[in-house]
Amino acid sequence: TYVVTDNCIKCKYTDCVEVCPVDCFHEGPNFLAIDPEECIDCTLCEPECPAEAIFAEDDVPAGMENFIELNAELSREWPVIMEIKDPPPDAKEWDGVPDKLQYLER
Ligand code: SF4
Ligand code: F3S
Repeated sequence: TYVVTDNCIKCKYTDCVEVCPVDCFHEGPNFLAIDPEECIDCTLCEPECPAEAIFAEDDVPAGMENFIELNAELSREWPVIMEIKDPPPDAKEWDGVPDKLQYLER
């Protein structure tokens, strides 16, 4: 499965949802999560993310392994998002800021 990681938080560009053939992205207030039971490993979303926040499960950077379970958990709670939408107005300022998990809204 593919996993959305830290840099999506407060960036949430949503380019990823446009390419997913099985609609497995779920939307929270400032983060998206992939449903691991729906993802078919098509790889299309990974290069689409301007924040480079998406990784194959096996390639999740060290220290971000907690996002694997977090995607599974949040995708069960949040609704599916199927269409791209405008990012938050301050998305650019947050792009690349480390350790944004503390800002995750749920
Ligand atoms: Fe969707 Fe493919 Fe990305 Fe999985 S790898 S979340 S199926 S676009
Ligand atoms: Fe997040 Fe990147 Fe998608 S910032 S919403 S994973 S395009």
